Amino acid sequence: MGSGLPGFFEATEMPSAGWWEALWPDPAAVLDAVGLTSGTEVIDLCSGDGWFTLHIAKAARRVVAIDIDRDILGAARRLLCQNGIDNCDFVAGDAYELGNLAPRPADFVFMANAFHGVPDRPRLARVVHEVLKPNGHFAIINWLQRPRAETIVLGEPRGPKSQLRLSPKQTVEAVEAGGLMLTRIVELPPYHYGAVFNRSAS
Ligand SMILES: C[S@@+](CC[C@H](N)C(=O)[O-])C[C@H]1O[C@@H](n2cnc3c(N)ncnc32)[C@H](O)[C@@H]1O
Repeated sequence: MGSGLPGFFEATEMPSAGWWEALWPDPAAVLDAVGLTSGTEVIDLCSGDGWFTLHIAKAARRVVAIDIDRDILGAARRLLCQNGIDNCDFVAGDAYELGNLAPRPADFVFMANAFHGVPDRPRLARVVHEVLKPNGHFAIINWLQRPRAETIVLGEPRGPKSQLRLSPKQTVEAVEAGGLMLTRIVELPPYHYGAVFNRSAS
């Protein structure tokens, strides 16, 4: 059903098969780069078909995969099941409702390839803040703010339209307005960056 769902974030449809795997050949390295540590409680927000969720689950104590699209969530469930992973819960719902969807506080909230489509980003950051444990982290993976025509994967321009792409500065301003603090920006070549935020202990 995808983008027809009420509340669906703009330009966040799960890509057609093939080029996503080519763009992200090593999801575990991405998770490492944004500081995911083993044995933690993690939320994969806007988890899609589980491309990152699978690798999060291999490291984490427990994962909650949240997506508004039940069909996509079903694909993620099948992927993890095929890989013998049983430490993941799958929850269908709108990311803005995170406070009601997350069963327990998280050490780490991971959100890849969806933040650009969120209409009220400080609101989203606030709900993430609410579910994070003290000293918990929020990692956002965004497309670089480059013209779409330049982000070529398997011979075609890919990703959200140029106007929707966020600079690191725009991302930091939106998330810090929601009460979290930037800890670092990481480069994720060829076309992405990660922004990692912290909920202070107080
Ligand atoms: C481009 S996909 C990325 C999936 C995954 N994070 C990845 O990088 O492989 C974005 C996902 O966000 C989900 N989504 C869109 N709007 C949402 C919302 N309001 N709440 C929760 N999930 C949403 C879509 O269903 C889609 O699966």
